[in-house]
Amino acid sequence: MYGSNGVQDETDRTEFRKAEKKYKLYYDNTSKSSKKKKQPRKVDLSEVLDFNSILESFNQTGETPSGIFPLQCDIGLPVFCLKNRPGFYFIPGALSIEEQCKWIRESLINFPQPPNRTNHNAIYGPISNLFVAAKEGRVLVKKETAAADENSDRNNDMMDEIKWEFSEEPVTSLGGDSNKFVPASTILQKLRWSTLGLQFDWSKRNYNVSVPHNKIPDALGQLAQRMASPAMPAGEKFQPEAAIVNFFGLGDTLGGHLDDMEADWSKPIVSMSLGCKAIFLLGGKSRQDPPLAMFLRSGDVVLMAGEARECFHGVPRIFTDEQNAEIAPLDLQFSKEVDHCFLEYIRTSRININVRQVF
Ligand code: OGA
Ligand code: MN
Repeated sequence: MYGSNGVQDETDRTEFRKAEKKYKLYYDNTSKSSKKKKQPRKVDLSEVLDFNSILESFNQTGETPSGIFPLQCDIGLPVFCLKNRPGFYFIPGALSIEEQCKWIRESLINFPQPPNRTNHNAIYGPISNLFVAAKEGRVLVKKETAAADENSDRNNDMMDEIKWEFSEEPVTSLGGDSNKFVPASTILQKLRWSTLGLQFDWSKRNYNVSVPHNKIPDALGQLAQRMASPAMPAGEKFQPEAAIVNFFGLGDTLGGHLDDMEADWSKPIVSMSLGCKAIFLLGGKSRQDPPLAMFLRSGDVVLMAGEARECFHGVPRIFTDEQNAEIAPLDLQFSKEVDHCFLEYIRTSRININVRQVF
């Protein structure tokens, strides 16, 4: 795909793109006939900032590496800033294990519920109770009436007409016609985002305030408000109005981007990580600026406000293998439950909840 073709090379030439390619999951080229399991290409992680160890040595010695400084604030957690990225804040281990479990549950059970929209709305219409349906082995079935006007529906992907519904029947009795039947587990695997509060329209890249929506759940709003305070202008309170929940599976990435559709960039985006460890790239205002790479672990919170709002950023990699995912405490906590459905999901997934003040 990336041959020596000049045009393609041009788009790969930015420093941000180079870093994405450095960390992205690729499989080593093994011959097709080889029966060996494909191996992920080895990645040099020596330049990835690790705020876990920065926190550990800060707790022991009070010192931080050059370019990183602790912030005095009253949220009761150490907050770190970067000298050359004003407006960026890293709060390692901000969420307790119990809080992480709670937000993982919410992200899977409640956040994808209508009227909140997901990446599946455009094709299937609103889907209720996806996680439970996947657990119960149910199947999504196309409604007969939806077939005729399929094309006109596609023209308006913010329209919420029910096109598919879960059947009560088990998967095996329905045959293999994927145009009419899709297992809920497949839909869950392909869940990539869900929007809470004011609904973001990805095709127009703006908030569509006329689309029906619920307020951000109070508990999430309050958490975001508390976490946002180190980055808030003095005397002002963060107003959580919208959130995007990202779901990552093995090999999924979030390409370099800016979040620039909110009116007031002095207000932070509050971004929480859950589940498998990831690499986050924080670039500069140009894609040509070499980005900083850092690990994001379950429970970490990142704030991007002010100048940092103008910085390209993205997630080129999540780690789903036992050694690198670093979800042992979550594993232990979820293992205590009778039902292992959350554990099964999160063992190979990452969830990111980012909360925004839109106006
Ligand atoms: C986003 C975003 C970062 C992450 O959704 O805009 O930047 O950590 N997410 O997943
Ligand atoms: Mn973003």
